[in-house]
Amino acid sequence: MTHLFINIKELIQVREQHITKVSGQEMSVLPTIKNAYLLIENDKISDFGEMKNAPNADKITDCTGKMILPSWCDSHTHIVYVGNREQEFVDRINGLSYEEIANRGGGILNSAKRVQNSSEEDLYNESAERLKEIISQGTGAVEIKSGYGLTVDAELKMLRVIKKLKDNFNIPIKSTFLGAHAFPEKYKDNKQAYIDLIINEMLPKIAEENLAEFVDAFCETGYFSVEDTEKIILAGKKYGLIPKIHVNQFTTIQGIEMCVKNESLSVDHLEVMTDEDIKMLKNSKTMPVALPSCSYFISIPYTPARKMINEGLPIALATDFNPGTTPSGNMNFVVATACIKMKMTPKEAINAATINGAYAMNLADEVGSITKGKRANFIVTKEISSYNFIPYSFGSNLIDEVYLNGEKVDF
Ligand code: NIG
Ligand code: FE
Repeated sequence: MTHLFINIKELIQVREQHITKVSGQEMSVLPTIKNAYLLIENDKISDFGEMKNAPNADKITDCTGKMILPSWCDSHTHIVYVGNREQEFVDRINGLSYEEIANRGGGILNSAKRVQNSSEEDLYNESAERLKEIISQGTGAVEIKSGYGLTVDAELKMLRVIKKLKDNFNIPIKSTFLGAHAFPEKYKDNKQAYIDLIINEMLPKIAEENLAEFVDAFCETGYFSVEDTEKIILAGKKYGLIPKIHVNQFTTIQGIEMCVKNESLSVDHLEVMTDEDIKMLKNSKTMPVALPSCSYFISIPYTPARKMINEGLPIALATDFNPGTTPSGNMNFVVATACIKMKMTPKEAINAATINGAYAMNLADEVGSITKGKRANFIVTKEISSYNFIPYSFGSNLIDEVYLNGEKVDF
């Protein structure tokens, strides 16, 4: 079955040659074809080009006035949770900090209690609703973390829910084990015992059931030290898990150096960065991931993306969708906020939210650009004047249709 999209005002992020990421100045190159066609064969992109060369096909969709771009690749989410943390939101408005709330037993431990007390079915149902919502907002590949379980059983429950989402939704989902998200109350005075639990009990079970591809830790003052994080990375690597690490959200503790040394696929957050941290990332395989809607929601600094790109680094953009610091999985908002608050150009932001996001999930062979052979996961916009209009109209929904594996998604 072939499906031809014709009269596309502009086909965005067209890559004839397979690439895995763009860095530094390359980030300001966003190849497009104006007045284009796109041919889908079954679930894959099979051809594209200028309208004058359009072939025949079984089915034709006219896109006059509309643009097509690859689906957003959201490489950092925590969408498996139950309930919400609205009260903490109000507490922050009334003057409490994220840290003060966490020290009162709120924060991650608040969500962990709810996940521990919920059935796998309820957890699945709530998470599936969030996944449907982000698909409708244009996300076509996503990474999902555990980390609100914090017991052997509850971490496994979260990871099984992620597995079930993979089974039931036809979108690439990557699963990350984040047992090292916070220390449970009972390990407050014996942190090493919780790290031992992660390494000796959680990891072997996860590996046995093949429940995760990546391993993560919250490497931060008051959470997991650089040394703790390295132990967890090395233990995860023994089971073939690739590190993707939360680091430099509130403080810089030389975690980036350790993550790069251990060939982490990504380092995420990076709201506070020293020159040394930036230097460490140069010429490495580690993708820096910025999460601007987290900065927006809890009023912390934005990742210095402008400086990092000027220094030649790549940047990926992701949502961090979670109940505490970012209760939103809207990649359109992330792209707009990166432009508005981080001074990324629309070209850079679109690259960061597509091909570089795909890299940060090890999915660049499958998604992230309009390239022959890649999955036909893409967004058809409403009629818009240019792609700059997408971040410019930051509050509007400009998505007309979403396609996954060549099939139109019904919302
Ligand atoms: O990525 N920083 C660590 N983890 C999450 C927040 C977790 C929470 O508050 O529930 C984040 O922002
Ligand atoms: Fe996160």
